[in-house]
Amino acid sequence: MSDIDKQNELKRQVAEAALKQVRSDMVLGVGTGSTVNCFIDALGESGIQLEAAVSSSEATTERLKAIGVTVRDLNNAGTLDLYIDGADEFDAHRRLIKGGGGALTREKIVAGASRKFVCIVDASKKVGVLGKFPLPIEVIPMARSYVARQMVVLGGQPELREGFTTDNGNQILDVHNMDLVDPVEMEKKINNIPGVVTCGLFAIRPAEVVLMATESGVDTF
Ligand code: 5RP
Repeated sequence: MSDIDKQNELKRQVAEAALKQVRSDMVLGVGTGSTVNCFIDALGESGIQLEAAVSSSEATTERLKAIGVTVRDLNNAGTLDLYIDGADEFDAHRRLIKGGGGALTREKIVAGASRKFVCIVDASKKVGVLGKFPLPIEVIPMARSYVARQMVVLGGQPELREGFTTDNGNQILDVHNMDLVDPVEMEKKINNIPGVVTCGLFAIRPAEVVLMATESGVDTF
């Protein structure tokens, strides 16, 4: 099996594990990314008829609709029982870096509106200290250079994600080499910079559960 096939198999396994938490009467929050895509495929094959879903991106909305799931506007959904999403990194406290796919803002909103966030990852996403993965920050386009300068003050090296526009019409700065030993404090500082829509740190509100696929099974954190 190639490395890509192995990783896809791990994504499939963790998607199946997450499915065990899903019930037909739920309005489910659904994240974005390749692991979530495996989850949506598994949901489609499971026969579970969700009451509805709330989606974190246009891409996820399209996939959910393709398997026959009703996608509801968050404003008409109330508090969600469960949110399922992937991550780019997680630590021992279930704090995350997200936004590799650029959907961080809607992901943070839907996670925030959910009682329980179950994060689905493979073992490559586990880190001791967050920050090897460049930290994505969604910015209002006119604030891009200002926010970039502020991120340099905070110790990072920002890089514009070229040719990418978020579903909200904004841009992404990927910030390298951030010191994220205290991710809660850094999340607050970054989110306080005018022009920042949100940053990809999910530390103030971490996941409640991380399901991590390994070659010997799915571990729960
Ligand atoms: C998208 C995200 C994704 O959850 C994250 O990038 C992980 O994606 P994948 O499952 O493809 O590794 O935050 O904004």
